[in-house]
Amino acid sequence: MDINAGNTLIEKTVNSNETVNCIFTTDKNKAQMKNRLISITALVLVMAGMASCGNNKNTKKYNDMVTTESFGSFEGKDVFLYTLRNKGGDVIKLTNYGAAIVEIDVPDRDGNRDNVTLGYDSLSGYLNGDPYFGKVVGQYANRIAKGKFTLDGTEYTLAINNAPNALHGGPTGWHSRVWEAEVLEGTDYPAVRFTYHKPDMEEGYPGNVMAEVVYTWTDADEIIIDYKVTTDRMTIVNITNHAYFNLHGAGNGDILDHELTIAASAFTPVDPTLIPTGEIRAVEGTPFDFLTAHTMGERINDDYEQLKLGNGYDHNFVIDNPGDVVAEAYDPSSGRVLHVTTDQPGIQLYSGNFLDGTQTGHGGKVYNFRTGFCFETQHFPDSPNHPEFPSVVITPDEPLLTSTIYAFSVR
Ligand code: GLA
Repeated sequence: MDINAGNTLIEKTVNSNETVNCIFTTDKNKAQMKNRLISITALVLVMAGMASCGNNKNTKKYNDMVTTESFGSFEGKDVFLYTLRNKGGDVIKLTNYGAAIVEIDVPDRDGNRDNVTLGYDSLSGYLNGDPYFGKVVGQYANRIAKGKFTLDGTEYTLAINNAPNALHGGPTGWHSRVWEAEVLEGTDYPAVRFTYHKPDMEEGYPGNVMAEVVYTWTDADEIIIDYKVTTDRMTIVNITNHAYFNLHGAGNGDILDHELTIAASAFTPVDPTLIPTGEIRAVEGTPFDFLTAHTMGERINDDYEQLKLGNGYDHNFVIDNPGDVVAEAYDPSSGRVLHVTTDQPGIQLYSGNFLDGTQTGHGGKVYNFRTGFCFETQHFPDSPNHPEFPSVVITPDEPLLTSTIYAFSVR
């Protein structure tokens, strides 16, 4: 199966009364996705409009709503912190180190804003071995078994950084690079583009690869992430954003009470090293059935082999309808809701099982066990060694175009 089969780009609509459709998706899912996006955004747009009543002096153009400040430097390159403010006054912060999401400040149902993603107030946190907080991960997100794959008759060997496997593009993968950055002009919403040129064979991956990530922060509190990856020769790619969420506010307790829904009828079980066995297992009757809402914690300690192997959830779900809203998390106490829309075939639910209190993040808050979770939209782990999985091969003629939306609201 080709990674881009049937994909078409829906152009960004540049009318603030309409929703934004800049996701790359299949014709089949286009209409469905648009409807879902409209329904998600309608309520939030109404609320944003209400919130801005009496604030008619705000006539700033969207492209004025990005501020840039220094965030330090790394390997002689300047690192910046970008603050994107939408019309409702909600804010996200980004950095070009790892093309990362640093902060997401959104209201609870009483209008109180808090930051809902794990991260740091300074660059040093990101440089001192953070667990990929908010980063863009590549060239191959998640694991490749024993760090080996064969492509077009040639075997390639990667660094083993998660013994016995290769993880998240290697020790100096895209998460650890300073990306080029550009604040986009003339867009409807604040937007920043990050680009990284990966030289041929860096971290063992073939191809001079150009990775481009555009973050757009809409007035409906949606982070739209558009990815484009091109190459000058055949290679493999799996790109994701590794943001950790806590809808109570980062550092405010664990995420076990979050109610999750995942539109996936199957998942990919793993071996003891977290490599998929190749089985596609139906979720029905298992603690992996989130087709209807269950809290993260309800079954996480069940005596079920896959939960023991992952020390909780650390698994790829096989998305039923890529292009649609594929996952939801709801925090009943704050009322905050996160919806994930993607055209990728998989989503990694990771319950923060490696968080252990050694990371101190925003505002000096300590990130303990399971105080953040990830919805990493992706191709399946170890796909290069599983021809039965959707292909992760790209060529000069067939780049990767993919989009994911993280949409925040309340109920
Ligand atoms: C992914 C992996 C996990 C872990 C985290 C980062 O979610 O699947 O096993 O490596 O990234 O700590």
